[in-house]
Amino acid sequence: MARSSYPVVLAVVVAFLIACVAGSTFIEENPIRQVVTDGLRELEVSVLQAIGNSRHALTFARFAHRYGKSYETVEQMKLRFDVFRQNLRMIRSHNKKGLSYTLAVNEFTDMTWEEFQKHRLGAAQNCSATTKGNLKLTNVVVPETKDWREAGIVSPVKNQGHCGSCWTFSTTGALEAAYSQAFGKGISLSEQQLVDCAGDFNNFGCNGGLPSQAFEYVKYNGGLDTEQAYPYTGVDGECKYKSQNVGVQVLHSVNITLGAEGELKYAVGTVRPVSVAFEVVDGFRHYNGGVYTSNNCGSTPMDVNHAVLAVGYGVENGIPYWLIKNSWGADWGVDGYFKMERGKNMCGVATCASYPVVR
Ligand SMILES: *[C@@H]1O[C@H](CO)[C@@H](O)[C@H](O)[C@H]1NC(C)=O
Ligand SMILES: *[C@@H]1O[C@H](CO)[C@@H](O)[C@H](O)[C@H]1NC(C)=O
Repeated sequence: MARSSYPVVLAVVVAFLIACVAGSTFIEENPIRQVVTDGLRELEVSVLQAIGNSRHALTFARFAHRYGKSYETVEQMKLRFDVFRQNLRMIRSHNKKGLSYTLAVNEFTDMTWEEFQKHRLGAAQNCSATTKGNLKLTNVVVPETKDWREAGIVSPVKNQGHCGSCWTFSTTGALEAAYSQAFGKGISLSEQQLVDCAGDFNNFGCNGGLPSQAFEYVKYNGGLDTEQAYPYTGVDGECKYKSQNVGVQVLHSVNITLGAEGELKYAVGTVRPVSVAFEVVDGFRHYNGGVYTSNNCGSTPMDVNHAVLAVGYGVENGIPYWLIKNSWGADWGVDGYFKMERGKNMCGVATCASYPVVR
């Protein structure tokens, strides 16, 4: 919407004054959203009007602008500013310690940990079926480092949005890589079909699930539709699977023995990218680079709450790591990826790992 910024600034200032005096809320109008489209300066003015002038307030205004945030009321904005300040303090104090990884402000910085858990993470799933893995090791040489992106088989990073559907993105990521490796061309596959249709295999749509169980679903269902045929909505819905739109079929899947990082290295190093899960604890969402490690996460099958895709491994500044593709958009972390310390089953990264064989 094209408009001159001057009247908008005035409108916002007036609206905030009224809201502040009367303590009322904005119902019909969303002044912040209007201002975001009109630029940073105007947003700064309105934020400072609402929360007062301070260095953190300016940082907050820039954050809101950068991530297109809109807050319905002055009270909402003040609440978000408080959360933002607390997270900012945590991020800066972490970065001063000079550890193996850094944190940064990102789109999640105005959310509390509880909100983040609710909207982004699945409930912890019991994945102890993988205690008996079925990977057959051979004496093929396992490379010292690996990055499947270099082979061009890893599909672009996607964004799960406000739905605990990480497990579907881990599943499609693994299937997309397997497809590309097998057939020499890229494909994008449907997460929504898994959200809507894979419930019989102990999956719970936006409330979580497991890639190993999703592979079983695709195998017995007869296929997984393409992304285009069955697009992502990010909310639980009715199953609309159509067999004529199938993009890939699963022949079978391979489970890594619980906690066996040697097996995982063999699979990632010599076979293809592998779906893994781990426990996300607070702080991780602000990851910005380096090798992630934590004393606070668990590694049992009941701890893991986020599924992702291991696409490689290596060593950075003497610390072995897994290279992992996340589903929080390409803006998150390092181009949508992160590195997790390798060799200690850190956060359960090898607790719940599996990969598919496709046709
Ligand atoms: C997890 O699953 C295993 C095997 O299916 C079962 O023996 C165990 O009791 C389950 N644990 C919990 C806490 O549900
Ligand atoms: C792999 O584990 C899943 C459960 O997580 C199980 O349903 C499946 O049967 C296992 N696959 C094999 C080949 O053992």
